[in-house]
Amino acid sequence: MNKTLSGLCALLLCFTTASFAEEKTFLIKFSHVVAEDTPKGQGALLFKQKVEERLAGRVQVEIYPNASLFNDSDEMQALLDDKVQMLAPSLAKFSPYTPKLQVFDLPFLFDDEEAVSRFQKSPKGRQLLSAMAQQGITGLAYWHNGMKQLAATRALQQPSDAAGLSFRIQPSPVIESQFARLGAKAVGMPFADTPNALRAGTIQGTENTWSNIHSQNYVEQLSYITETNHGSLNYMLVTNSRFWFSIPHETRTELESIIDEVTFEVNRAAEQQNQADRERLLAGGKAQLTSLDAATRDAWREAMRPVWQQFEEQIGKDVIGAAERAIRRNR
Ligand code: LMR
Repeated sequence: MNKTLSGLCALLLCFTTASFAEEKTFLIKFSHVVAEDTPKGQGALLFKQKVEERLAGRVQVEIYPNASLFNDSDEMQALLDDKVQMLAPSLAKFSPYTPKLQVFDLPFLFDDEEAVSRFQKSPKGRQLLSAMAQQGITGLAYWHNGMKQLAATRALQQPSDAAGLSFRIQPSPVIESQFARLGAKAVGMPFADTPNALRAGTIQGTENTWSNIHSQNYVEQLSYITETNHGSLNYMLVTNSRFWFSIPHETRTELESIIDEVTFEVNRAAEQQNQADRERLLAGGKAQLTSLDAATRDAWREAMRPVWQQFEEQIGKDVIGAAERAIRRNR
C-alpha cells in the first residue's frame, strides 16, 4: 500500500471510530448499597432522571440500590473491571486504594457537615478527588450523608460503657482503631450483612448516620442511640477512568454539569433528611436517646483522639493540616 493510500485509510478509521463513539449509547450502571430514601439513594435517582431528560439516546443509566448488584466488598473491583461504571462508596471504603482519604474518618475532626464541606471545597479537598487516578479511578464529586451516631444494645453514656461490645464497622483501619480505643471490638463487614449479624447477636452495636440507622431499622436490636456526632459519613462519586474518558467530550461535559447540579441538591438536602429520620426514629418509640453534655462529649473526644497521631504519617500532615485550616475558617 502506498503512503497516500495508508494515510487515507488511517483517516477513515479515525473518522469511523469517532463517529461510532458519537452515535453509541453509553450505559452507566450505578450500584450502591443503601436504601432509595437516603441522601445517596435520592442522588442516584436524580442523576438518572436528569440524564434521561438531557442525554436520551446518548447515555442510559441503570440504578442498583440495596447491594442488589454488588456488595460494598466487591463493588470497587466491579468498577475496575467495568462491570459497573459509577459508585458512591463512603470515603472510609477507599483505604485500600489511598491512605489519604482516611482523613475524613478521624474521630472528632469535623464538628458538622458544614466543616466537612469547607474542607472538600478547599484546594486540598479538591485535589483528593484525584487521589486514586493511578489506579484508574476518577473522583467526580463528594456527596454528603451526615454525622455518625452510636447505636448499641445498652446505653453508652461514658466512653468506657462501650468496652467489651462488638461493633460492626465499615472496613477501615481508622475506625477499627477508634473502637479499640474504647476497649470495644470492631468487626468489619459489608453494610448489607449488618441486619443479619444483628439478628444473630454476633454484634451488639454499630455507628452510622440517622438516615442509615433509620432505613435499616437497626433499632429493632439496637435501641440505645448516643448522639455523639463523632465523625462524618460522606461519599465520593467515582467512575472508571478508562470508561469515563471514552465518552465523547460534549456528552461528558453535559454529564459533568448534571453531576454538579445533583451534588448541589444531595448536599443541600442531606442534613434535612438526616434530621427528619432522627425525628421519625425517636417518634417511633423504640429508640432511647442518650445526649451528651459538653464535658461528656469532651471525654469521648479524649478517648478517641489518639487515633489521629497513629494515622498522621499515613494520611499526611499536609492533608490533616489543610483540613484543620479549612475547618477553622468559620469558627
Ligand atoms: C456503611 O457501610 O455503613 C455505609 O458506608 C453505607 C453507605 O453507603 O452509606
